Amino acid sequence: MAKFKTENLQQTEALGKRIAEKLTGNEVIAFFGDLGAGKTTITRSIVKALESDNDVSSPTFAIVNEYKGKFNIYHFDMYRISGWDDLYSTGFFDYLDNGILIIEWSENIENALPDKYIRICIEKGASDTERIFDVEGLEI
Ligand SMILES: Nc1ncnc2c1ncn2[C@@H]1O[C@H](COP(=O)(O)OP(=O)(O)OP(=O)(O)O)[C@@H](O)[C@H]1O
Ligand SMILES: [Mg+2]
Repeated sequence: MAKFKTENLQQTEALGKRIAEKLTGNEVIAFFGDLGAGKTTITRSIVKALESDNDVSSPTFAIVNEYKGKFNIYHFDMYRISGWDDLYSTGFFDYLDNGILIIEWSENIENALPDKYIRICIEKGASDTERIFDVEGLEI
C-alpha cells in the first residue's frame, strides 16, 4: 500500500495523471471516501490523462457515465445502490473486463468487487485542501 498526501487540487490532478499512466485498459478502480473527498476530481484527471475529451461529473442519477478515450471508461456512482438487485440493474457485471471501471462510493458494493482491483481510499487532511490517498493494487 502506498500513501500520498496532496495539498491542493493541482497535486490531486497530478496524482490522477500518474495513476492513469499505469493503466492498461481493463482495471477496476474503486474509490472509498466521503462527500467532497475528491473522488470525482481525481476521476476527472484520470479520464483526461486517458485522452478523453468527455466531461466528467458524478453520475449520481445516471449511475454510470461512459467516456471514450484511449480506452473505454465506465464511471459509476454507487451512492444510491443498496443491494444486489440494484447493482445488477446497473449492468455493472457486464462492464467488468470490457474497459476501465472507476467507481465512486465503493463502500456500497464492496462485496461485489472482483478479486483483483485498485483500491483507493481518500481522507481529508489537516487543512481544507489537504487529502490523503491510500492506494492498493497499483504500483505508482
Ligand atoms: N487536495 C484536493 N484534492 C481534491 N479536491 C480538493 C482538494 N482540495 C480541495 N478540494 C475540493 O474538494 C472538492 C472535491 O469534490 P469532488 O466532487 O471531487 O468529491 P467527491 O468525493 O466526488 O464527492 P461526492 O461523494 O459528492 O461525489 C472539490 O470542491 C475540490 O475543489
Ligand atoms: Mg463525486
